[in-house]
Amino acid sequence: MIDYSDVSFELKPEFLKVTRFILEEQAVLKEGEKVLLIYDSHTPQHVINAFLGTAMQLGADAYSLKVPMAPHPAVQPAFTWDKLVENSARNADLIIDMAIGYAEFMVHLVNDGARIIMPGDATGAPHIEDSLIRCLLLEDPYAVRDEAQKITDIMSAGKSVHITSEIGTDFTLDVEGVSAEAGHGFMSDPETGEVVTPYQITPGAMPGYLLPAGSGDGILAIDGVTLYENVHQIPQDPVFLTLEKGKIVDVRGDRRVATRLREWLQLLDDEGCCNGPVHANIGLSRMARLTEHLEWERVRGSMVFGFGDNSILGPYYSSSKMKLSKSGVHWDAQILTPTLDVDDIRISENGIVQKI
Ligand SMILES: [Fe+2]
Repeated sequence: MIDYSDVSFELKPEFLKVTRFILEEQAVLKEGEKVLLIYDSHTPQHVINAFLGTAMQLGADAYSLKVPMAPHPAVQPAFTWDKLVENSARNADLIIDMAIGYAEFMVHLVNDGARIIMPGDATGAPHIEDSLIRCLLLEDPYAVRDEAQKITDIMSAGKSVHITSEIGTDFTLDVEGVSAEAGHGFMSDPETGEVVTPYQITPGAMPGYLLPAGSGDGILAIDGVTLYENVHQIPQDPVFLTLEKGKIVDVRGDRRVATRLREWLQLLDDEGCCNGPVHANIGLSRMARLTEHLEWERVRGSMVFGFGDNSILGPYYSSSKMKLSKSGVHWDAQILTPTLDVDDIRISENGIVQKI
C-alpha cells in the first residue's frame, strides 16, 4: 500500500516559501532570466501559478506550456514529444519541468546552456504541494545536502560496493573509476554560489552511482516501491531479482508483483529492458514517504535501483566515457532497509544511515 499524502485543492501559503526556495536557492534564478514551466493535467493549476508568480517576483520573465499527459514514467525513454515543445523551450534560461522527464531534446537544451529543475522528477501530482512542503520545509535541505556530499565523496573514492539485507539481498558492484552524484537538488556550489550542475531534481537527496552497462551480480530482494509498466506497487512479500553481469536473469517472489513484472519484461521485446542496475542510490530524507511522487526514492535509508535505459540520464551526470544502457523503458525497484558498504566503510546498516 502506498502512503497517504494530502491532495491540494487550494493554495497552501507555505507553498510560496517552497517555490521561492526552489527557484532562488536551488535553481539560482536571476533577475531578467526567462523561465518556462512545462506541465500537464496531473498538477493543480494553483501549483503552476505559485511557481510562475514567484519567478515573476524574482524579476524573471515567466511563461508556461501545458502539454498533453505523457505515458507512465517507466516508458518515458521511448516517448517522442512534438517539436513544438522543444521549440518553445529553446530560449528559456531555466525550465521548470513538471511533465517531461527523460527526453533527448531536454539533454540538447542543457547542452545549449539551459538549466532544468524538476520538482518531483517531472511527473507532477495532485499532492506535489504536500510532498514539497514536507521535504523542503520540515527538514533542513542544507543539512541533507551536506550529508549527501559526504556520502558521495566516499562513494566516488570507492572500488567495491556490497549490499545486503535481512530479507535476502546479497549484491556486489564494481565501482572502480565510477564517480557518484549527490542528487541533492542544489545547482550551485555551496562555497562560491556558482552554478555547477544545470540539471537537478528536487527534493533531494539520493547520493549514488549512474552505472556502466554490465555492472552488478547477485540478488536484490525488493520490498519497497516497484515502478514499472504503469504502476507504483509495493509487494506484500519480497520480489527477488537475480542478476548476472548487469542483467536480470530471474524474477521471482511476491505472486502479484513478480508475475506482472516478469510478464511485462517478456512482452516488451526490448533487449535492454533487463539491463541493470543502471543506477544505485540511497535516500536521505526523513520526511519523504512512499507516495507516488518521486519522494519515495528519497526515503531515508532505502536504496533504489534503476533498470533499462540510462543513456538519456547519462549525459547529465557522467563526464566519463562509460558504456551506457539503451532501452525504451526505465523502471525502478526499492529495498527499504539495506546494509550498504563501500569498501570497508558502512554507509547504512539495516536501513539506518550511519554517522559519517
Ligand atoms: Fe530510476
